[in-house]
Amino acid sequence: MRLAIYPGSFDPITRGHVDVIARATGVFDELVVAVLVNTRKAPSIEVAERAQMIREAIEEELGPEAAAAIDVVTFEGLTVDLARQRGATSIVRGLRALSDFENELAIAHLNRKLAPDIDTVFFPTGIEHAYLSSSLVREIAAFGGDVSAMVPDAVARRLREHHRG
Ligand code: PNS
Repeated sequence: MRLAIYPGSFDPITRGHVDVIARATGVFDELVVAVLVNTRKAPSIEVAERAQMIREAIEEELGPEAAAAIDVVTFEGLTVDLARQRGATSIVRGLRALSDFENELAIAHLNRKLAPDIDTVFFPTGIEHAYLSSSLVREIAAFGGDVSAMVPDAVARRLREHHRG
């Protein structure tokens, strides 16, 4: 059984993240989507809600069969510690463009130093999602813009509720 962990801030999850999740489930038997509690980026959405948005998005966008092979958890601390705890053999990350590569390569090398038995597997995000980022989505949503093409429907609904106040 091949289990992978997909860590991230997911603040909020975008259609690009969903694309990576869908493709990772084609390669791995089980996927743990791990939502980081305290990120260096001071998250705008509370971690439990970020995780709930991911569960709703997976169910709605990928369907119940895919959802059955995906666990969504929140975590604090090192990704490799959670990976070991869960028995994961791989860490999944998405790459949108060359600009992501430098940082992602550094994280992958450092994680490999910490846990030589766990490898990082990169999925190039679908080209139609290559321009997406959670921070731009947050900015557009904060000014009342329509983010429905950028995030799963479940997330668009919740962002609208957030910004209605
Ligand atoms: O979605 P993000 O913010 O790009 O995700 C970054 C993340 C969560 C993958 C990274 O910050 C991380 O793994 N944090 C957990 C702490 C950790 O393991 N740090 C060591 C990696 S060098």
